[in-house]
Amino acid sequence: MSLLEDLKWRYATKKMNGTKVPQDKLDYILEAARLAPSSSGLQPYKVIVISDKALLEKIKGISWNQSQVTDCSHLLVFAAWDGYTDERVSKVFNYTMDERGLPHSTMDDYKNNLLGMYSQLSPEWHAHHASKQSYIAFGLAIAAAAEQKVDATPIEGFIPEKLDKLLKLEGSGYKSTLLLPIGYREEENDWLVNMKKIRTPKEDFVTEMTLADAADFDEAPMEGSLGDPT
Ligand SMILES: Cc1cc2nc3c(=O)[nH]c(=O)nc-3n(C[C@H](O)[C@H](O)[C@H](O)COP(=O)(O)O)c2cc1C
Repeated sequence: MSLLEDLKWRYATKKMNGTKVPQDKLDYILEAARLAPSSSGLQPYKVIVISDKALLEKIKGISWNQSQVTDCSHLLVFAAWDGYTDERVSKVFNYTMDERGLPHSTMDDYKNNLLGMYSQLSPEWHAHHASKQSYIAFGLAIAAAAEQKVDATPIEGFIPEKLDKLLKLEGSGYKSTLLLPIGYREEENDWLVNMKKIRTPKEDFVTEMTLADAADFDEAPMEGSLGDPT
């Protein structure tokens, strides 16, 4: 099946039947998330995998009692950095250079520019920016699950502060951002399964523009460039 067929097949499953997702399919979904692009390649997020029913029960209690949290096979918890620090950024860039067989200093200019920009921004901006990166990996995990004919429910409906406490994320440098229970739909008890998929009509969603449609804009082009990391 094509990606578009898979995306039409998937839906935000409301009722799962508890069937286990095989390890190879779980690995595939996690690998798609790991391969996601991220700003400056920092991947300021990670995924925690939970299938322990007792722990899932506790998580359901802080997730508006959404049944997928306990009826899933595995719950993927996405968590993002609470901020960009020299130490965290350097660790990623040094690893990149080691893997590519280049000296650590190769990325110094790029890294210093980045940290210089980030140092002027608030802690809230940092956490929000990292959180946004995790949504990209989340989207790819959802698409990969659909490709594997595994159901997945994107979930923002939980209390992150309480989950951070429960999962001992407090003080770890990570904050939970999203939940993705994966498993298999229980069709007979899922009110959404046969509902028509609704999306904004294409003509409202896609706009083509030319210069004639744009504003009068006489701003001089920026000087300099972002610079290549390598
Ligand atoms: C970031 C995000 C958060 C969501 N949170 C929830 C949630 O907490 N519970 C839920 O049942 N669905 C949740 N959804 C599912 C959306 O309601 C659903 O994707 C949307 O209505 C489109 O329907 P479809 O996914 O079935 O095509 C969320 C979706 C996204 C992308």
